[in-house]
Amino acid sequence: MICRNAMKSIMQSGYTTIDSLETQSPEEILRWTLDRFHPHVAIATSFQDAVLLHMASRIRPDVRIFSLDTGRLPEETYAFAEAVRLRLNLSIEWVFPKHEAVETLERAKGLYSFRESLEARKACCAIRKVEPLNRALTGLKAWVTGLRREDGETRAELKVVEVDEAHGGILKINPLAHWTSVAVEAYVRQHGLPVHRLTERGYPSIGCAPCTRAVEPGQPLRSGRWWWENPEHKECGLHGR
Ligand code: ADX
Ligand code: SF4
Repeated sequence: MICRNAMKSIMQSGYTTIDSLETQSPEEILRWTLDRFHPHVAIATSFQDAVLLHMASRIRPDVRIFSLDTGRLPEETYAFAEAVRLRLNLSIEWVFPKHEAVETLERAKGLYSFRESLEARKACCAIRKVEPLNRALTGLKAWVTGLRREDGETRAELKVVEVDEAHGGILKINPLAHWTSVAVEAYVRQHGLPVHRLTERGYPSIGCAPCTRAVEPGQPLRSGRWWWENPEHKECGLHGR
């Protein structure tokens, strides 16, 4: 069942337009989204590449952008985030986990509890990612992600516009849903955008440092994320799965 907020957002946006967005370019999707929802929309970035941020900041220099600093990100991600911030002149809304929750977790279970079981891994993601995301989305009517169908089996059915039931029925917009890594690389080259140093070292998907590793060429894009788990478990709860 679609909740009241979702119905309201969809009615304000118009069903016909939403259907037609499936075949639009990422720039057109972003323009549609920012025109309708700014300042009640924000882009969620993990600072893996700067494609969406570059497109969006050309449409609206004051676009809202947030990133969840889990406290365990690779140094290379901070360096990349800073390079992108300066290059595109962005203002980033960094969101941290609740320090009491991290302290309780680390005092009770140590610094690598996420290796012990799927439940323990999800408990860490819940504290460092899911709860901060819930706070970041408070008051928004829509959020924008860099999710792509190519990411793997958990995302194969991804749509450009989804109703995010897990977050009160706001809209979740995925402008790059149908893009491939080849298209992303071509866009980065074409616009001379900064490149994350770990991308150059064989990391096609980058999250927290202890839960991400490089993969061999041709391996599934997210096989270096939580590599000790089965593919169907490779979600941290940010995307409601
Ligand atoms: S994850 O759920 O497995 O971590 P992934 O790394 O594939 O997600 O990224 C998919 C999208 O989720 C990103 O393009 C971004 O929109 C959002 N996302 C992931 N991690 C973060 C983060 N730390 N901060 C903000 N958004 C994030
Ligand atoms: Fe914790 Fe790893 Fe999840 Fe990061 S990816 S929040 S370190 S379990």
